[in-house]
This record gives sequence, structure tokens and C-alpha cells, in this order.
Amino acid sequence: MGVRELKPNIYSVGAVDWDRRLFDELIPLPDGTSYNSYLIKGSEKTALIDTVDPTMMDVLVKNVEELGTEDINYVIANHAEQDHSGSLPRILDLYSSAKVVCTPKCKGFLMDLLLIPEDKFITVTDGETLSLGDKTLEFIHAPWVHWPETMLTYLREDKILFTCDFLGSHLATSDLFVTDEATVYEAAKRYYAEIMMPFRTIIRKNIEKIKDLEIEIIAPSHGPAYDRPDFILNAYRDWASDEVKNEVIIPYISMHGSTKKMVDYFAEALIERGITVKQFNLSEPDIGKLAMALVDAATVVIGSPTVLVGPHPKVVYAACLANALRPKLKFVSIIGSYGWGGRMVEQLAGMIPNLKVEILDPVVIKGVPKEADFIALEGLADEIVNKHREHNIIKVSKGVKNGKS
Ligand code: FEO
Repeated sequence: MGVRELKPNIYSVGAVDWDRRLFDELIPLPDGTSYNSYLIKGSEKTALIDTVDPTMMDVLVKNVEELGTEDINYVIANHAEQDHSGSLPRILDLYSSAKVVCTPKCKGFLMDLLLIPEDKFITVTDGETLSLGDKTLEFIHAPWVHWPETMLTYLREDKILFTCDFLGSHLATSDLFVTDEATVYEAAKRYYAEIMMPFRTIIRKNIEKIKDLEIEIIAPSHGPAYDRPDFILNAYRDWASDEVKNEVIIPYISMHGSTKKMVDYFAEALIERGITVKQFNLSEPDIGKLAMALVDAATVVIGSPTVLVGPHPKVVYAACLANALRPKLKFVSIIGSYGWGGRMVEQLAGMIPNLKVEILDPVVIKGVPKEADFIALEGLADEIVNKHREHNIIKVSKGVKNGKS
């Protein structure tokens, strides 16, 4: 992607990665991503905000050169992770007088990760400013979005907030600004779910911290920029709030069909009671979709057979992931089947200590489900409805069958 003008003397000079399909060797990127970098030409000084993933540093260098940039005085490093900092060494080689501007913590990370010499840094305190002549950069420390060293940079005169990962989306697009909010909403929610959700309490504080800033544009370092900042700020307020939805997520796996029969029956029982159900077969899961579902749901019911006396390893993986993502769930239960015995329930329950949830009595049965087992599943569905009601999660009952809700 070539140079694009955000506002006069403010340019997008980063790269769009249409082909990347995996991040951190873990997170699926169905729609690619971008590594955004912004060049700001003040009347006296020039600053580059964030760089790009090292795989795309040639794009950044070409774009900066194309603007006839003779010198870069400052490289603002909002975040030390290599998809934004990885091209810093090359930029510092090309523009040898440039200083790296970052938080004190970020300086330590950049020295460790990229071996940047100490004399290259200027560290900034929360609220400190830096003049480029006719433009002023204000640095806002915003830790844990999603590393401990992160900050935001606010360009006062142009009312642009550069947020790096925060409020961004993994979305490859040729559009500089959001044009299709529904598409960006999905991508931004997936991104929030995968890396921001564990820090939602501090995210709320960071959103509060910027509430009085006059913002015309939010320019993240992944995905398109927002010229309607409330769109993404309101979405984050909703995702990071304590409100949960009347939804049950059922991540499951079945080896010989017994657990699958239970899951299908149980899902129907919940739907009849007016609960939204999202079923995820863990054989070939898109963990991003599962993470997105966990953003809002009140309850998770894990479905697992017993294998090698414990839960299925793919269920273990999903449980570990949910534990790490710390969604705002209220209730968890387990359903599944065993052949001769095992410790599937105890082992799974022990894998989710980070989830501040109430564990509802599991339904774990021997062999294929029989009449009494289906009745037990109906009982669990009733209990979930009652719990949702007690916690005011069910507000409107629509499409409910036989007064079961
Ligand atoms: Fe986009 Fe935390 O790096």
C-alpha cells in the first residue's frame, strides 16, 4: 500500500498484509491485517508513529522516501511488540539522528527485544508533550492494552489519537478509513476478544482516561482509521462492561457420538427456554470465533467425552484458552459421556481458576444418553434459565415454548 494522506502533513505510510493468516502462531487472521505507521511533518520536526512488522519494512521505507523525507527526528514507539517495532532498527540506520520516544518500560523492552542502544531513547511521562513546531504530540500512558508498557499519542492540533493495538482490528483493506462498520465491528471484536479481553477492567479505566479528549480521528496501528470515533469507543465500552447476554456457549467434541447427542439435545432444551446458543465443534475450531462468542455470553457449558481418563485434549486446549482470556462469564457447567470412568470433571474444573464463575452441577453419563440422562439435561437447562433470571440476564422472553422459561 502506498502513501495516503490522513490530514495535511499527516500520512499513513504503513503496510497492508493481505496474506497473513496466523498471528503469534496462534491467532487466526481470516481477513489479513495491516501494520499502520504514520508520518507527521511539523514545521520544525518530523515524527514517525510506530513502524511495521519486519516482513514489510521495505514498504515503510519506500513510503517514507516517497514523501521526500530528509530526516526523521523522532520515532514514537507506542508499543514494543515486534509487529510495530520490528522495523525500528532499519529506520534508525537510515535516519541516524532519530530518537525513539516511548515509556520507560517500553525502552527496556525495545533494548531487550531489538538491541537498540540506550542513547537512542527519550522516555516520556504520562501527559508529557513534544513539539514538532506547529504540531504538538501528547503522550498518554495506557498500560495493558495489551502489554504493560503501552501508550497512546494524541496530536493536539489535528485531534487525532494514535492508539496502536488499542481499538484496532486485524483487517486488510485498501480503505484508509472505515467504510463498512459491520465488517470492521466483527474484526475489531475478534481482535478485542483475542488480546484485549483479559484486561477489560483496565481497558475501562483507559477509556475513561481519554473521555475528555476532543477526538476527530482514531488511528490505530492495525486496520482502518475511525473518522467516527464513537463507533469503536462505544463498542469497547459494551465489550468491556460487566453486562452479559442471555447466551450459552457450548464448545464440545465427541468421539463416538454420545456427547454429540447430549449437546444437540441440550442446545434444543436451551433454545426452547429462550436462550441463544452458540455451538462450537472443537475438532477444527476457529478459536477467534470462540473467543468472540465469549465476549458477551453469560454461560459456557463444555461438552467432552472422557479419553485416557480425562477430558479430550482439544477440550483441554479450549478450556486453557478461555481461562487465559478471562471472559466475563457468570456460570460454567460440563456435560459429557464416559466408557468406564475417569476424572474429566475435576480435571476440567481445575483448569479454569481465572474464571470467577459459579460451577453448575455437571451432567456426565455412562455410554449413550438414556431417558434419565435427557431428563438431567433438561434439569441443567432449567437451572441455567433460573440463574440467568436471578441475575437479570433474561430481560425479554420472546419465542419461548410451553412456558418453560
Ligand atoms: Fe500489534 Fe501487540 O502488537
